[in-house]
Amino acid sequence: MILSIESSCDDSSIAITDIKSKKLLFHKKISQELIHSEYGGVVPELASRLHLEALPKILEETKEFFPKLKAVAVTSSPGLSVTLNEGVMMAKALSISLNIPLIGVNHLIGHIYSVFIDKEISNDIMILLVSGGHTKILDMQNGYQNITELATTIDDSFGESFDKVSKMLGLGYPGGPIIEELAKNGEAIIDFPIPLRQSPEIKFSYSGLKNAVRLAILENKYSKEDIAASFQKAAIEHLTMKLKKLFKTKTPNNFAIVGGASANLKLREEIENMGKKYRFNVIYPELKYCSDNAAMIGRIAVDMYENQDFVNYNELKVQPRVEFKKENL
Ligand code: KG4
Ligand code: ZN
Repeated sequence: MILSIESSCDDSSIAITDIKSKKLLFHKKISQELIHSEYGGVVPELASRLHLEALPKILEETKEFFPKLKAVAVTSSPGLSVTLNEGVMMAKALSISLNIPLIGVNHLIGHIYSVFIDKEISNDIMILLVSGGHTKILDMQNGYQNITELATTIDDSFGESFDKVSKMLGLGYPGGPIIEELAKNGEAIIDFPIPLRQSPEIKFSYSGLKNAVRLAILENKYSKEDIAASFQKAAIEHLTMKLKKLFKTKTPNNFAIVGGASANLKLREEIENMGKKYRFNVIYPELKYCSDNAAMIGRIAVDMYENQDFVNYNELKVQPRVEFKKENL
């Protein structure tokens, strides 16, 4: 079995995954959302202190598995360095004391592998990764060792734009679920400009849209519901417009939407429609594995274990940012 730890942002989570069957045996997560909500976003120093309390609490519950552990895996990049450190320190201590190898996991690849938790599907997939820190289109051929980046954002991320709009409307954090819920009771009557509509390039940008929402709020004539619905429509249309451009040159057989914002049902609906038109399978993680969790870290760690993809404990370093190999379209 592999014990995996996730602490890249504001979720403390530990999982146990069986290597042979790839099945998830134990999974627990303690989220700090409510605490950070008071500040309108994640406060790194506070998050790190909360991990220090939560991780040992969860670890206590996994003790019965210790004699069967063959490796310990931990998210080591990308994320907030002070919070990543909490998980990495714990993983190093376990690796030394139990005398088992250490696996350093890229959190973004972890999100991709959230679709493989307790499921067997093809590992040739195109991926839309939409989270608080990232908006990327990635292409994976035959597993995690061959991932290329097809597109990314030049400023804010998709999830982050929901967080910022929620904050501007005086609502809580994380903004994604709040704005999605609010939008259900609103109408998309405001014609927000779709970012980079005229640009032939396949890349994303959310800062202009955020600014347009700010100006609409200042006008004081629209309801919060209508602002949420109009913003959400434009934010999703930006993604689908760029995807349509991409599918003209590269159409996938399997298309996965992963990351915290993949929980957005409107986004899922739009991608489903595209799947019917361009004839690809649409794959999502289960809702409980969309946001950060250690189950996805454990699942990728199983594949890394099979490749003996280990790292020495004195060489494992926290990396706040990571780059993928880029493919020019
Ligand atoms: O993957 P995740 O849990 O953490 C990061 O790695 O960033 O993603 C969190 C992000 C937040 O920005 C949150 O507002 C967004 O995902 N999110 C959503 C929805 N649920 C969460 N964005 C849009 N619609 C949602 N339903
Ligand atoms: Zn994440």
